[in-house]
Amino acid sequence: MEPNVQQTPERLAFYNKIDRANLSALWNVMGALITPEPRSSAQPALWRFADIRNYMLEAGALITAKEAERRVLILENPGLRGQSKITTSLYAGIQLVMPGEVAPAHRHSQSALRFVLEGQGAHTAVDGERTLMEPGDFVITPSMKWHDHGNTSSEPMFWLDGLDIPVVQFLDASFAEGLDEDEQPITRPAGDSFARYGHNLLPVGPRPATKTSPVFNYPYAHTREALERMKARDEWDPCHGLKLRYTNPVTGDYAMPTIGTFIQLLPKGFSTSRYRSTDATVFVPIEGRGRTRIGDQVLEWGPKDVFVVPSWRWVTHETDGEAVLFSYSDPPIQEKLDLFREDRGNA
Ligand SMILES: [Fe+2]
Repeated sequence: MEPNVQQTPERLAFYNKIDRANLSALWNVMGALITPEPRSSAQPALWRFADIRNYMLEAGALITAKEAERRVLILENPGLRGQSKITTSLYAGIQLVMPGEVAPAHRHSQSALRFVLEGQGAHTAVDGERTLMEPGDFVITPSMKWHDHGNTSSEPMFWLDGLDIPVVQFLDASFAEGLDEDEQPITRPAGDSFARYGHNLLPVGPRPATKTSPVFNYPYAHTREALERMKARDEWDPCHGLKLRYTNPVTGDYAMPTIGTFIQLLPKGFSTSRYRSTDATVFVPIEGRGRTRIGDQVLEWGPKDVFVVPSWRWVTHETDGEAVLFSYSDPPIQEKLDLFREDRGNA
């Protein structure tokens, strides 16, 4: 599909003529449109939490959460600067809520995940229910559900925001609105969703109408226990170690309709086999240290750093001590479109 078209004065004149009619010749661009394999502009990159934390505290002195609506620094992929993207399809930001602050209630078409990095006792309210957040918790705010964040603790609270902003932008399907009050009315007791949907039980009667999991906080304590118990047996996947997918208990599908979320444990001194897939992936180590090789680049990471692996690039991970990595990417979209592809090297 590589273009090999000679340009003659007659052809150039023709392109100029049809350009005025909003037409262009496919034979000049086909090679760039239909590539033999993915050629992403996205680059491998890593952000150190310690650096982001300092910048965020500086931002904390510059603007309140209320004025900013969300006090967030966007992690922009160096190959996609100015587009508010960490991968071609996904957004990432680090949010700070200072003690006593409220990030006011709003809702929007975009689905959001929070992965808590630092602090305890801040809460997110989603659809009339509050949940306290702790490091390692994975929290969802579904499309068009009201959400606000508050911090009644005495420490700053940091978390990673992952959203499908580029997907919604691509589809021109964005709607958003604010609430008159900063905090939405609370209509359900804390823990209600988890009680109903988080224990391998489902309420009888009508199913929730949304495609997003009704479990809106997956506590790290439970996630970590699952990994800890699993590691008693030697079932390490050569490419992924012990890797679990967060699921929607109602459908068995991914927890969010557009974003796949995962947690994986890699044992001390583990080296994964090389792997590549079409879902560019954002990783957040929550425990442990190690390095990830993407082609000839090496990213050294520690707890709470964020790094990104572009689509279809060979990747391997190595750990020093035992490590736990949260990650998110877009397989729910790619699988529905029959586009997802992976290559496990020789594993
Ligand atoms: Fe939001």
